[in-house]
Amino acid sequence: MTSRSSFLIVANRLPVDRTVGPDGTASWRRSPGGLVTAIAPVMQRRKGAWLGWHGAADELLEPFENDGMDLIPVPLTAEEVELYYEGFSNSTLWPLYHDVVAPPVFEREMWESYRTVNERFAQAAAEVAEQGAVVWVQDYQLQLVPAMLRAMRPDLRIGFFLHIPFPPVELFWRLPWRRELVEGLLGADLVGFQLPGGAANFRMLCRRLLGLPYKSNEIFLEDRVVTTQAFPISVDFSELDTLVREPHIMHRAKEIRVELGDPEHMLLGVDRLDYTKGIGRRLEAFGELLRDESLAPGEAVFVQIATPSRERVEEYRRLRDDIELQVGRINGEYSVLGAQPVQYFHQSYDREELAALYLAADIMVVTPLRDGMNLVAKEYVSCHHDLQGALVLSEFAGAASELRSAYLVNPYDVEGLKREMMAAMNASPHELARRMRTMRRRVATYDVDRWASEFLTALES
Ligand code: ADP
Ligand code: G6P
Repeated sequence: MTSRSSFLIVANRLPVDRTVGPDGTASWRRSPGGLVTAIAPVMQRRKGAWLGWHGAADELLEPFENDGMDLIPVPLTAEEVELYYEGFSNSTLWPLYHDVVAPPVFEREMWESYRTVNERFAQAAAEVAEQGAVVWVQDYQLQLVPAMLRAMRPDLRIGFFLHIPFPPVELFWRLPWRRELVEGLLGADLVGFQLPGGAANFRMLCRRLLGLPYKSNEIFLEDRVVTTQAFPISVDFSELDTLVREPHIMHRAKEIRVELGDPEHMLLGVDRLDYTKGIGRRLEAFGELLRDESLAPGEAVFVQIATPSRERVEEYRRLRDDIELQVGRINGEYSVLGAQPVQYFHQSYDREELAALYLAADIMVVTPLRDGMNLVAKEYVSCHHDLQGALVLSEFAGAASELRSAYLVNPYDVEGLKREMMAAMNASPHELARRMRTMRRRVATYDVDRWASEFLTALES
């Protein structure tokens, strides 16, 4: 692996996590979340290096290669995992940027740790970037990196992409460190958001907080111009489209239906176990459909897959308990011998099993209370070349601005959720095909390669 690179991704996470088994042997496992899903195929097709944390504390690792990518681990201490990652990133910024659906925590020592770790990432990038290299910094965990890196290496071309929503000024204003964060982002030449609304929120904030003028997409600093723009992230459509046409995936999809007891309707939820995803609301709606006898036990099965996530953060622990209690209650009340209406899995799956699940499901239920994009929705669409299957999609997911032919719902409205879930279950094949065709056209044309190349072209121009 070369020691210097002309193209760098800087993200909190590497695409793989290091895990050590009970017998002491270490192995690499794919890291969770949409950022990795999107960036990994982009990096496999370009020459460059990816700097990030490898998921374990207090370990210093050498750069290595994995799955065709050059990876450079950035270490975190156990205290930094607690204060920077679980703390400022996921107890302060994550809830604040997601419409405060959980209360954010404001702690000075978390902020200090965030600054220290951002400095370390900037330093690491400065050391491996070639003269004039392109450095693409990712997501809310590293918002100070652009300005820090620019101070160290003014020769670089620096881009930043935020994978989660950028909040309205009134919410952002609560942050005691609001000025530092905005100045951090303004170190980039190009700041990318999922939706035009996020970019507009950011420009407004720069004007109100720092008095900076802007015109259309450009913010004017004393000596430079920063471009802000929306680039809706996407998935590797053709990879999924090809995968689900493989005989063994088609066979597995059929097998899944049999294993579930051949229900008339299979509903599916696939999420990180996160309070922004609205898992409780969708289960509540499904439970009420059974209670109201709109659905008979055995007629429909709801498969909910919840990837373990941020398990030491209090809000996530509480969520897990709540969801598991809710699943137990629904199953306790509406199971019949041999048929449980909710099948719940607190596990990660490989891409093939996930693709088979998408293909098997009649209805994909994606109901976040707020979500930057939601790649699960786009993955489901990519897997349905049969033009069957319905997507029930929250209006508060970024994906809703592109997938207008989904069954759009307000996840706070349980009656509306029930109505749209039933409409999806009762739709004619013709109606399903009409909706699916439109959605597939969008995801096929605006896939993850297009997303990356549009961002990088804008950055380099
Ligand atoms: P987020 O980035 O907030 O987790 P997204 O929906 O954008 O949400 O991305 C989630 C990604 O994680 C998708 O690529 C999805 O396939 C993957 N994923 C979600 N749940 C699982 C699981 N149980 N096993 C494996 N991959 C999963
Ligand atoms: C979201 C974030 C990513 C993050 C992922 C998984 O997609 O936007 O930055 O990597 O969730 O979360 P985790 O905390 O496990 O990295």
